[in-house]
Amino acid sequence: TPRVFSGIQPSGGLTLGNYLGAIKRFVEKQADGIETIFCVVDLHAITVWQDPEALRKQTRELTAGYLAAGIDPAKSILFNQSQVKEHAELGWLFNCVARMGWMQRMTQWKDKAGKNSQNASLGLFAYPSLMAADILLYHATEVPVGEDQKQHVELTRDIAAKFNHDYGVDFFPMPEPKIEGAATRVMSLRDGSKKMSKSDPSDASRINMTDDADTIAKKIRKAKTDPEALPSEAKGLEDRPEARNLVNIYAALSEMSVDQVLADVGGKQFSEFKPMLSELAVAKLAPISTEMSRLMQDPAEIDRMLGQGSDRARDIAAPILSRTKEIIGMVG
Ligand code: TYM
Repeated sequence: TPRVFSGIQPSGGLTLGNYLGAIKRFVEKQADGIETIFCVVDLHAITVWQDPEALRKQTRELTAGYLAAGIDPAKSILFNQSQVKEHAELGWLFNCVARMGWMQRMTQWKDKAGKNSQNASLGLFAYPSLMAADILLYHATEVPVGEDQKQHVELTRDIAAKFNHDYGVDFFPMPEPKIEGAATRVMSLRDGSKKMSKSDPSDASRINMTDDADTIAKKIRKAKTDPEALPSEAKGLEDRPEARNLVNIYAALSEMSVDQVLADVGGKQFSEFKPMLSELAVAKLAPISTEMSRLMQDPAEIDRMLGQGSDRARDIAAPILSRTKEIIGMVG
């Protein structure tokens, strides 16, 4: 039976990239009536230093973001990773399955550890092994993510295959990365070659889910573009990364294809297109940010929901972990 799992790090505020590449698509999966499990991956967040107060706030804010965007605890399991100890435990077991060489090839590791990798945390290196545990602990079959997480989901498949092979079992399924839609890689508004990221030092490079209408309009007005008018076909965007990014964002927000968008706006200048994009972005994002602030008024209620979600997650995870330990040869 199909089961969807995905997660987001509470390592900063939510960006438009997280929304279009992940949460919006989680809501679509939830509507398909498949079993859906969504996680606030706080154990992953601490692979780089997080201020404790900020981590607590970001965990609640991310939960509010999931809820405000339409994740419904009556339909999906929504929880935070550290409350379900099984994640850490299976993560350890997978550290003994995964190979050093596999981890060293991860582009996210190379980017994040940088030149001074000797000073990176051991957790940052093992990060993909814990992510494999997140997914396989539920025998999830589908993992909706943005383009940047594809390599990690492929590594999850390698870990599942090696485990099954080493122990001569057919226990872990092979999860599929689901990278779909027009916004699988939303780019920085300042540089069309860089991903939009919550960790970019420039706030102008991203749209935050908590930005107000004026801030959104200002950031889009200042977004980098080229001097040409918009083309009328997708082909015309090929060597124009900044233009392509804004059109992709428009397509994802309006739930139109890139071709449909260009059929409408082809020939227009950015001076005309940017206000259209701002208006659309504000119309789609303002209700979510308003609902997020409303939910954030009652952190105890958010904590209660995370507790309930964690209990439901544990009910699925615990028997799968027990069986894994039994396969490995652990007593008890
Ligand atoms: P994270 O927290 O960096 O991002 C959360 C999700 O948002 C997507 N995303 C984007 N999509 C399009 N354009 C962008 N600019 C953009 N930026 C981020 C990411 O691809 C991701 O889907 N390792 C994961 C968290 C994780 C996880 C998991 C995911 C931990 N365990 C298990 C799936 C399954 C991460 O760092 O995502």
